[in-house]
Amino acid sequence: LLILGILGSAAKDSRTRDGLAALGSRARRKGADFEIIDLAVEFRGHHDIDDYDVPIPTGQTAAARHRVSTAEALILATPVYHGSYSGLLKNFLDHLTGDAFAGRAVAILANGGGPRSAGTACDQLRAVVRAISGWSVPTHIATTGSDFCDGEPSAFIAGRMEALVDELLAFGRAQRLDDGMRRHEED
Ligand SMILES: Cc1cc2nc3c(=O)[nH]c(=O)nc-3n(C[C@H](O)[C@H](O)[C@H](O)COP(=O)(O)O)c2cc1C
Repeated sequence: LLILGILGSAAKDSRTRDGLAALGSRARRKGADFEIIDLAVEFRGHHDIDDYDVPIPTGQTAAARHRVSTAEALILATPVYHGSYSGLLKNFLDHLTGDAFAGRAVAILANGGGPRSAGTACDQLRAVVRAISGWSVPTHIATTGSDFCDGEPSAFIAGRMEALVDELLAFGRAQRLDDGMRRHEED
């Protein structure tokens, strides 16, 4: 099962990145494949509305849609900026169509400077996931800098990460089973 982590922080030293990497290593330990899209490196351009309806095959819109289509589950990871998720992440999501996350489980992680700001960004992202037809898993990861030590999450956050990855994998496996049954019925 391929899980795609989408990193919405451009900071070189980023707790959001640490959190996403910690989720990825747990997913791999449980048998999944995990890839990161580092948006500040791979998708730096502004989304182009003229390329939205019929994207040119070599453009950024087509590339964004292709990367998302390869994933069986996704993790959206964002810093908290001005009380919300980052523009870098929203810019990427604005390349996608309204059914981009259909049939896929989506997990949300946010890291803020303040101790209680990240939960709000997670809830706001939940509404965005719904708008592009994704299935948000119930557990989200809302952290601040002191939840990490040398890049590793605290025991409490690590426990939530285990739960989140289990939810992603359970949904992904159920989807695979469902797809298989559908194909069997069609044959
Ligand atoms: C433009 C900007 C706006 C920010 N606004 C908030 C905010 O509203 N609430 C908050 O708790 N932290 C805020 N912060 C602090 C970041 O959330 C904090 O630096 C966090 O560590 C970012 O995650 P990162 O380590 O992955 O870059 C802001 C930072 C920037 C650069």
